[in-house]
Amino acid sequence: LRAQWFARIAEAADESALETVRVGALGKKGEVSLKMRELGKMTPEQRQTAGPALNALKDELNSALAARRASLADAALAERLRAEWLDVTLAPRPSRRGAIHPVSQVTEEVAAIFADMGFGVAEGPQIETAWYNFDALNIPGHHPARAEMDTFYMARADGGDPHVLRTHTSPVQIRTMQAEGAPLRIIAPGRVYRSDFDQTHTPMFHQVEGLAIDRDISMANLKWVLEEFFAAFFEVDGVETRFRASHFPFTEPSAEVDIRCSWVDGQLKVGEGDGWLEVLGSGMVHPKVLEYGGIDPSQWQGFAFGMGIDRIAMLKYGIPDLRAFFDSDLRWLRHYGFAA
Ligand code: PHE
Repeated sequence: LRAQWFARIAEAADESALETVRVGALGKKGEVSLKMRELGKMTPEQRQTAGPALNALKDELNSALAARRASLADAALAERLRAEWLDVTLAPRPSRRGAIHPVSQVTEEVAAIFADMGFGVAEGPQIETAWYNFDALNIPGHHPARAEMDTFYMARADGGDPHVLRTHTSPVQIRTMQAEGAPLRIIAPGRVYRSDFDQTHTPMFHQVEGLAIDRDISMANLKWVLEEFFAAFFEVDGVETRFRASHFPFTEPSAEVDIRCSWVDGQLKVGEGDGWLEVLGSGMVHPKVLEYGGIDPSQWQGFAFGMGIDRIAMLKYGIPDLRAFFDSDLRWLRHYGFAA
């Protein structure tokens, strides 16, 4: 009897099998329990030997059951530790996180700096009428500036005047004047298009327009705003600007603006040195342009500027080739992109 139950305890493969064995031996109707009940029918002599023997067997079985239960629990734990083992020294899986494109990053930076100076953000359509892109900006049909702009024209199914892909963000000046009137302080970032392609030109690129209209705006305001902007954007104490006389049909007078810079070991340093870098076109808004925008030029005047976003992104982040901006090469995006 004893050997048989010990063998069953040793064979129990898990805790529930062990419980079945326990009930079979020591449960109410268990074999050992029944034997103990038979003690009553025995003679006193028989009982004197069988009683202690059965009690001893019961104790032995109980301790064997406890020992087996403990070793089964140990084995179960060991198995879990083995199965759920994790090598924390393994290299992480490559992350599929995206990155912010330098153009988006720089657009945000520009908008934040101008917001601090009270400029809101305005937008206009990329498919524009020739009137907004040219005529309302004082560029009449015969004007050479139309030809110089390498315009993409879009034939219309109804045979009407062709639309254009806007060649600059300046039409947003007119749209915002018409929509909001004076006074006005806005920037207008966005995509523009010209049929031109080489290392420094792509047929689609980004500009940001600036426009401030008020009672007595002057070129001095323009210069201050631009110098504040460049110092903040290039994260330097100050940036000197140089205004060169120029011509745009929609500003009078007009100026191209350079910033002071130098090249040290192939790295651009903005704000110091004896070099100059052209960064934008600007001027005082032409009275005829104010009129096209529905604003009275005898009461109001303003300044405007237009700057290449891709260009200042290249300068700030040391990106050599403009064409790579729009190749959608993931390695390039990972290298020059910004954490989201
Ligand atoms: N629209 C001009 C360009 O694309 C830039 C400009 C904007 C110049 C506003 C003067 C005023 O080249």
